[in-house]
Amino acid sequence: MIEVIRADITTLAVDAIVNAANESLLGGGGVDGAIHRVAGPELLAACRPLGGCPTGEARITPGFRLPSSWVIHTVGPVWHDGARHEAERLAACYRNSFELALQHGLRSIAFPAISTGVYGYPKRRAATVAMAAMHEYVPRFARIIACCHSAEDLQIYCELLVSD
Ligand code: APR
Repeated sequence: MIEVIRADITTLAVDAIVNAANESLLGGGGVDGAIHRVAGPELLAACRPLGGCPTGEARITPGFRLPSSWVIHTVGPVWHDGARHEAERLAACYRNSFELALQHGLRSIAFPAISTGVYGYPKRRAATVAMAAMHEYVPRFARIIACCHSAEDLQIYCELLVSD
């Protein structure tokens, strides 16, 4: 089932939390910064040899000091105008993160609202893409969590959950 909650994703004790990273995988602000802060320096050390990650793809590392066992790093699209395959690339982030979790036998996974912060993806459009991908994978996970950081995000996801 899909759970929609308002929380700081770095507090969630699930098999994997997903990080909205950038292509360097060397940290940043937003949720990326929060995850690296809590995970500790070992996370950056584990990311360095990965050599970055193209937009839409996903990479996995241990969670180190985080309560989650793993971190799945994915790189969302920067929003331009919606005509540059942003929706397909965002959907790929969710699908590739799910597939990587399945390859590692993980059963619970939490996502932030990828691309909706610094990368400027309109929140409702992004939530629609996220929820569609989550529904595809519901049968294969014990827990799928949409982890909203703001009340606004929570409202958007809850409306979509009800409308399904
Ligand atoms: N827990 C859950 N969600 C969070 C947290 C947190 N601790 N902190 C921020 N968020 C939410 C934001 O409110 C936003 O809804 O994560 C969502 C994604 O926002 P960003 O973190 O800005 O990520 P994104 O828009 O994908 O931009 C990625 O930002 O931090 C840099 O290195 C990152 O360059 C990359 C870019």
